[in-house]
Amino acid sequence: MPPADVLPPESEVPADDPGPLLTSGTSADVYALDDARVLRRYREGRDATPEVALLQHVTAHGFPAPAVLGASGSDIVMERVHGPTLLQALGAGEVSISDAARVLADLHARLHAIPAPPAWVAPSDRDWPVLTGGPVVVHLGLHPGNVILAEPGPALVDWATARSGTPELDVAVTAVMLAEVAVDAGGDYSQAARALLAAFLHASDVSPLAALDDASAMRAVDPALVPGERELVPDAAGLVRTLLELTAG
Ligand SMILES: Nc1ncnc2c1ncn2[C@@H]1O[C@H](COP(=O)(O)OP(=O)(O)O)[C@@H](O)[C@H]1O
Ligand SMILES: [Mg+2]
Repeated sequence: MPPADVLPPESEVPADDPGPLLTSGTSADVYALDDARVLRRYREGRDATPEVALLQHVTAHGFPAPAVLGASGSDIVMERVHGPTLLQALGAGEVSISDAARVLADLHARLHAIPAPPAWVAPSDRDWPVLTGGPVVVHLGLHPGNVILAEPGPALVDWATARSGTPELDVAVTAVMLAEVAVDAGGDYSQAARALLAAFLHASDVSPLAALDDASAMRAVDPALVPGERELVPDAAGLVRTLLELTAG
């Protein structure tokens, strides 16, 4: 069912002049429409319909993510979530590493309790990430930059890579993402990322070991990576494996 059919008529997506630009990411721009709403707009005209369907599915299951207020083509109008991202809060020393790890692990656990919508079809207009599917909803980008610490609690944004999959794969993708920062020796956040990764693996109910190879294969072909980042993926996967073995031993 197209989202326009289930949305109230006053939630029309603005054609242009959407207001102040909040951020400009690799594939989408996010505008503040007003205090209550943002517009996420794909620059290359991708179809946001499958993403909107998943977002509506998880919010209907009580998952903390922005409510969809309107959608059309490559535009999503959604509830504006107020608060710093978990990444900003970590950087400012407002959240401890162990609390941040618990937030990430808790969002994974809550998301993976939601069955994949039976009739959902993955977006056909992009070639990454390619998955065979699975029993639950997965986000595949559940990192501190996509978590907003709102007053009622943490909320998860950026559903572009959400699919149906397995909890192990989603946890493994987060682990490899954190490890990529950790193994970037010249990076400012490498030590903090290593500590966050260790705390996340400890806090997670699910072991990502079985899905680690799939996760690193997926990360290595993420079109959003720049060449320098891509080369970090094998070492990142190695670090995750080492930390898991330390925990197991
Ligand atoms: N619903 C929202 N409410 C408030 N801020 C948002 C919302 N969605 C996204 N943002 C902000 O915009 C940033 C980028 O959005 P995101 O969907 O993560 O796109 P991308 O990472 O592809 O650029 C987020 O990190 C967050 O700071
Ligand atoms: Mg993002």
